[in-house]
Amino acid sequence: MDAAFTVSLLGLALVLLSCPDDASLNRVFANTSGAVYPGSGFVEEALQRAIELTDAAYARTSERVKKSVSEGALRPSDLLAQFKQTEAKTSAQIRAAELLDNTVELIREMVYTHTMVQPDHQALLSERDMENLQQVTGCSAELQRPSCDTDCLSERYRSITGECNNRHNPRWGAANIPYSRWLPAEYEDLWGMPRGWDPQHTYHNASLPPVRLVSQEVLFTHNDNISLDSTLSHLLVEWGQWIDHDVVLTPQSPSRSSFRTGADCTHTCSRDTPCFPIQIPLSDPRSGFQSCMPFFRSAPSCVAGVPTHRRREQLNAITSFVDASMVYGSSTSLASTLRNRSSPLGLMTLNSQHSDRDLAYMPYLPRRQAHLDPCGPRSSLTSRASEKSRQQENTTSCFQAGDSRANEHLGMIALHTLFLREHNRLVKELHLINPRWSPDTLYQEARKIMGAVHQILTWEHYLPRVLGEGAMSRLMPPYEGYDPEVDPSIANVFAAAAFRFAHVTVQPVVTRLGPGYTTNSQHPQLPLHHSLFASWRVVQEGGIDPVLRGLLLSPAKLQTPGQMMVEELTERLFQAQGGMPLDLGALNLQRGRDHGLPGYGSWRRSCSLSVPNTTSELAEILTNFTLAHKLQLLYGTPHNIDVWVGAISEPALPGGRVGPLLSCLLARQFRALRDGDRFWWEREGVFTGPQRRHLHGVSLSRIICDNSHITHVPADPFSRTERPEDMLPCSHPLISHLDLRPWKEPDSYPDCGLIPRVQSGYSLLCDSVVLYQCHSGFELLGSSSVSCDPNSRQWSPSAPTCQDIDECKNLTSVCPQHLECFNTQGSFICSEPSSPSVVSVVTAVVVVTGGVAALLMIVFCYRRYFPKKEDLVNAECCQGKS
Ligand SMILES: *[C@@H]1O[C@H](CO)[C@@H](O)[C@H](O)[C@H]1NC(C)=O
Ligand SMILES: *[C@@H]1O[C@H](CO)[C@@H](O)[C@H](O)[C@H]1NC(C)=O
Ligand SMILES: *[C@@H]1O[C@H](CO)[C@@H](O)[C@H](O)[C@H]1NC(C)=O
Ligand SMILES: *[C@@H]1O[C@H](CO)[C@@H](O)[C@H](O)[C@H]1NC(C)=O
Ligand SMILES: *[C@@H]1O[C@H](CO)[C@@H](O)[C@H](O)[C@H]1NC(C)=O
Ligand SMILES: *[C@@H]1O[C@H](CO)[C@@H](O)[C@H](O)[C@H]1NC(C)=O
Ligand SMILES: *[C@@H]1O[C@H](CO)[C@@H](O)[C@H](O)[C@H]1NC(C)=O
Ligand SMILES: *[C@@H]1O[C@H](CO)[C@@H](O)[C@H](O)[C@H]1NC(C)=O
Repeated sequence: MDAAFTVSLLGLALVLLSCPDDASLNRVFANTSGAVYPGSGFVEEALQRAIELTDAAYARTSERVKKSVSEGALRPSDLLAQFKQTEAKTSAQIRAAELLDNTVELIREMVYTHTMVQPDHQALLSERDMENLQQVTGCSAELQRPSCDTDCLSERYRSITGECNNRHNPRWGAANIPYSRWLPAEYEDLWGMPRGWDPQHTYHNASLPPVRLVSQEVLFTHNDNISLDSTLSHLLVEWGQWIDHDVVLTPQSPSRSSFRTGADCTHTCSRDTPCFPIQIPLSDPRSGFQSCMPFFRSAPSCVAGVPTHRRREQLNAITSFVDASMVYGSSTSLASTLRNRSSPLGLMTLNSQHSDRDLAYMPYLPRRQAHLDPCGPRSSLTSRASEKSRQQENTTSCFQAGDSRANEHLGMIALHTLFLREHNRLVKELHLINPRWSPDTLYQEARKIMGAVHQILTWEHYLPRVLGEGAMSRLMPPYEGYDPEVDPSIANVFAAAAFRFAHVTVQPVVTRLGPGYTTNSQHPQLPLHHSLFASWRVVQEGGIDPVLRGLLLSPAKLQTPGQMMVEELTERLFQAQGGMPLDLGALNLQRGRDHGLPGYGSWRRSCSLSVPNTTSELAEILTNFTLAHKLQLLYGTPHNIDVWVGAISEPALPGGRVGPLLSCLLARQFRALRDGDRFWWEREGVFTGPQRRHLHGVSLSRIICDNSHITHVPADPFSRTERPEDMLPCSHPLISHLDLRPWKEPDSYPDCGLIPRVQSGYSLLCDSVVLYQCHSGFELLGSSSVSCDPNSRQWSPSAPTCQDIDECKNLTSVCPQHLECFNTQGSFICSEPSSPSVVSVVTAVVVVTGGVAALLMIVFCYRRYFPKKEDLVNAECCQGKS
């Protein structure tokens, strides 16, 4: 037995140990003999090899990352990876799916080398083989149906993961499920090879042009050659990205090296999963320096259903719903990390090192790479150790938020910070109105309001401006209630193409303005690429106010056929020290091909729009012959045009900013997000009538007033404001407050009268049930809930009480060994064994008697017991001071 084989057996054993269903492996191997499926005989060997290859690729990747970090290099692709960090649950699913994918790929190869015949995809493996493979790779476990609670709270608040929103299909719209498909994937082979993998491969008798060539020929625009939108502000563009980060996150493979050959994806030019590098055409100014731009395939997803027909699917790592998940997180562990568990108000954790004067920042992400932080200042020259260590004192870390892309650029950081503050503002206000609500209730109620605010701002203020009033009323009819048949999951074409439309409306500069919307030398305007991952600029250059003012006063870029994407995005994306920058346009096109999105023609057909066959038909749709001709030269046929570039090339509908195809795709998704959301804000029972009325007047300008130092805002922040004089003071009646009085819980319930309350505890009225929880340091005696019995008109059973926990009775002592434990209401004190009671009583009396005497007494206490009995003095003698 050779060493490699032993290693592979060990690897297999490890997988089996971690697999919940050990017995399944026996089944995989039990039925390999008289198999009629050509692949069945190779399952065992392929699985072992796949485990080896997959784990080796992951290990190689982390070694390379460590190495490039220790060399002080941070490549643009490292930033891209940083940008898409995944949660544990997502990583587990990706590993399972990659293992399954690699196994099936190997089986196909083995069958081919044995028989020299390409196996037909249906005949490769039996359904049984596939089921077993799903089991041993861990995919089955990932696909398990979540169990849903049915209690009152699960009707009142959405889950963090989005699970159980739909009771019959609890995974619809949840985090870590595959994107849905509105049209079947069209890969280059039957399983999932990206379109354009083989540059010679033809579709409709034409091969696909290199994506970078399309970007150069069609998208590229000089930074100083753009037209400005006459009616929309740049904040509208920012809002689109903000909502994108609420509903879409496509993780890429954790491996940055080829599974098969081990090649480093950041350097190779050969296509080998997960490397799918972007060729640099010879005509490109970059071609002398670089022959390929790195690109990593999106991670595959585990897929339920008939497994022998499986095609590669990509997954959404966050919840689909517009639920402010970018603030709260889409996994329970992240959500918990982001909360301040010691706060009785349900606050989110804030930054403990820096603040924006009296306002808070997001907490820092725990730093993994001590001396190299993507979010700190980067000076292009320094690499000397002394300078590095000096810089280290000064650098800030990346911020931590509910979404891993929070630090991408200054606009994102500003919105994340704004809404984090808004949450904490809401819980404080809710607490004043409902002092009996527990920290959890305050957190959940604020989260629910935040979700509604995002839905209202998006559907009522954002979408009409993007789609235009006509398309809006045609494609987004008034809400008619929750429809459990509607799948709210994000569609692949929405994530990989349609909702990337706003990339062509991004300004090349980040405007930053001081008080009064004036330019300020402390924080001048920046080229966009200097704002990427620059969280340090927020901390050191004036907080988020200058960025927000810039977004409010600067217009959006206008999309025109001759000015699509600014060079900041096509030529300088994620530009950092030592590495070639990326091209957002090329990335978008390559992503669509990686996901097997059908071409422009198919999408036009699916939207019941005319399907162009010739240049002149295309020119008619685009109302521009030059552009149609350009696309025809590149693609050979309108059918093959990558859907993203085809869609953004269409002229906008009246009053909107997108053409017919985009308005169809966007409206279809947003309608599903509305009608398929059990917690949609307008749904009967989600909010009360008065709450809905108050929510409806919510204003982003008000949120900015309430959570920044900005004193003047536009009445409508998505509209362009030309002059600072046109801004209104925050006190203006048009900038209306969100009045939370309708959130006050009633003191009595219709049938049963006064709601029974508890001392030292919290209570919440949920439908006809009162739920109880004790303050920390108290334990609940009795039932944790009482309900109103409509017959007897009584609450039953009787309300519980909260009893002080005597922490000192605990056998595992709560105090350090040399100290004695004294119980207090809700807490305890550790102090020196000698009895302090006389001193403390005297002190307490004296404190009440007079301040001067108290000071004397404290001094006396200190003299007498200090330094030996420091603990005692602190805990007992001076306790009454305040
Ligand atoms: C073995 O595989 C064959 C072909 O897939 C199938 O018909 C048969 O039922 C399997 N037997 C067992 C014991 O799983
Ligand atoms: C494809 O192109 C070739 C060469 O241009 C031509 O001979 C052939 O007829 C075309 N096929 C179709 C189906 O259009
Ligand atoms: C801007 O566009 C005009 C006309 O399209 C062109 O003449 C000019 O050279 C462009 N400027 C730059 C810097 O490319
Ligand atoms: C958590 O809340 C407590 C009590 O409100 C506060 O003192 C503390 O600073 C907060 N911590 C963080 C990290 O936000
Ligand atoms: C931190 O770095 C910035 C920019 O590199 C510099 O302007 C600033 O003075 C530094 N602050 C301290 C405290 O060293
Ligand atoms: C393009 O060709 C298809 C099929 O040949 C046809 O159905 C369609 O109407 C044509 N499109 C136009 C705009 O004529
Ligand atoms: C048509 O498109 C080209 C770019 O392909 C652009 O330069 C030109 O200005 C456009 N014409 C009109 C009328 O919009
Ligand atoms: C005793 O203290 C430990 C640790 O502080 C805690 O886990 C345990 O629940 C306590 N037991 C009782 C009876 O309070």
